Amino acid sequence: MTIVSSAQPWWQAATIYQIYPRSFADANGDGVGDLNGIADRLDYLVDLGIDTIWISPIFPSPMADFGYDVADYTGIDPRFGTLADFDALLAKAHARGLRILLDFVPNHSSNQHAWFQQSRTSRDDPKRDWYIWRDPAPDGGPPNNWISDFGSPAWTYDAATGQYYSRAFLPEQPDLNWRNPAVRAAMLDAMRFWFDRGVDGFRLDVLWHIVKHAGFPDNPPNPDYHPGMGEMHRVHQLHSTDQPEVHVIAAEMRELADRYGAVLVGEIYLPVPKLMTYYGSADLPGVHLPFNFQLIEARWNAADLAARIVEYEAALPPGGWPNWVLGNHDRPRIATRVGPAQARVAAMLLLTLRGTPTLYQGDELGLPDARIPTDRVQDPRELREPGLGLGRDPVRTPLPWDAAGGFTIGEPWLPVDPAHLPLNVAAQAADPASMLALYRRLLALRRATPPLATGAIDTVTASGDVLRYDRSDGTTRYRILLNLGDTPVPVPVPVPVGTVGAVLTTDPSGTADPHLLRPAEGVIVKVS
Ligand code: NOJ
Repeated sequence: MTIVSSAQPWWQAATIYQIYPRSFADANGDGVGDLNGIADRLDYLVDLGIDTIWISPIFPSPMADFGYDVADYTGIDPRFGTLADFDALLAKAHARGLRILLDFVPNHSSNQHAWFQQSRTSRDDPKRDWYIWRDPAPDGGPPNNWISDFGSPAWTYDAATGQYYSRAFLPEQPDLNWRNPAVRAAMLDAMRFWFDRGVDGFRLDVLWHIVKHAGFPDNPPNPDYHPGMGEMHRVHQLHSTDQPEVHVIAAEMRELADRYGAVLVGEIYLPVPKLMTYYGSADLPGVHLPFNFQLIEARWNAADLAARIVEYEAALPPGGWPNWVLGNHDRPRIATRVGPAQARVAAMLLLTLRGTPTLYQGDELGLPDARIPTDRVQDPRELREPGLGLGRDPVRTPLPWDAAGGFTIGEPWLPVDPAHLPLNVAAQAADPASMLALYRRLLALRRATPPLATGAIDTVTASGDVLRYDRSDGTTRYRILLNLGDTPVPVPVPVPVGTVGAVLTTDPSGTADPHLLRPAEGVIVKVS
């Protein structure tokens, strides 16, 4: 495990790697990745230099949303393995100093969950109030104008009992009613189940969604809406998300997690000031790490990045620990967003900012979004609102382990893009100029260098295409200079030589020029 001082929780010095389990490694040849596949590849993650794995949902699921529709919160889907496989994976990971976070989905279950099956049987059923049921509007339509994140009304009519149920995502994902204490108790029990098995924390899916306004008022229309945005943006989610009561629930989860020394990472897509409220307060602590998606939202230029870093750092509440995310299974990949050259700069940015970084599987290889033939589309979001570029399959294809693919001996559930094959792990592991080699160097340096792992950040400035900041622990100071442009720039501050000087460059040559930042080059310089 990472050695940190007792005053510093382990997750502050951690580096998190997200595994999308369907596409990481398939041990049994059925074309879908599994727990034994992950167990077989742990040494890859150790060599990469990360220390914490977050695994997207592995619980029993009809897979309407590929695991984000959970039919049993305390089991393992047979496609991924068994509970014994999970215990073995956890033990093997811990033996290598790797921690494991699971992906808890509190907002909704699957419509196949026994709770919902029971809830829908009658209006008087004891489980009725475990979900959110409302009468139709006077015209028989949905109770209000809330829109699902995947388009169409956020309500599904159930003829059996003549009411609508709320579902912020698919009809197969009915929203749990967190205002019901029995739901809270049952869900906290499920978390406890995994903590007792030794799990090191959770990523909490759409945490800001879990409580809805008790009066169910209409959401205000979004005057900036245009159809290319996706239908969910017709309205602002004012009343369907981010209600004050969510913080009471987060505090209950936090209290439980803290008893186990575990970490809670909250998935929250909100502007920075709102995001900060999810850290909670001294009286009502929130999650340890409300995911910070600034690097996903940023326009890729020095001024925008500097402004976002400064805004985020300044907004952190006392004791709030920062975190940074470069990509995930829902958003276009960094190499596609900024191009392959700038993706190397992005790697250095992610791993030199102050705070816990999260990187998404495949980004360490510089994979671009995969092309998916139309007849192979799987993502329910793309199937419901096709052609808007909202589909998530392109970032969920199997990891290329070798020149032939190496993910499965069977037919992979999503096709491997031939353009990914030359970027395979085996080839990059043998090439010191590769993206994988750069990630390994950056992660090794971060691990070995306290100012980079946990030191302060200051002098965040943009000048032209260059983003610059310092990391220091009071005695040693490192300067990070990133050229966000595609022309060479004279180094704005002298790079000293000797015991101090350039310690790492993103340039494939591996050698920094003391006077020049090449196009899309980032350097880490020890200045004192
Ligand atoms: C956020 C997850 O990251 C996404 O993949 C999923 O579809 C929704 N939440 C619904 O659970």
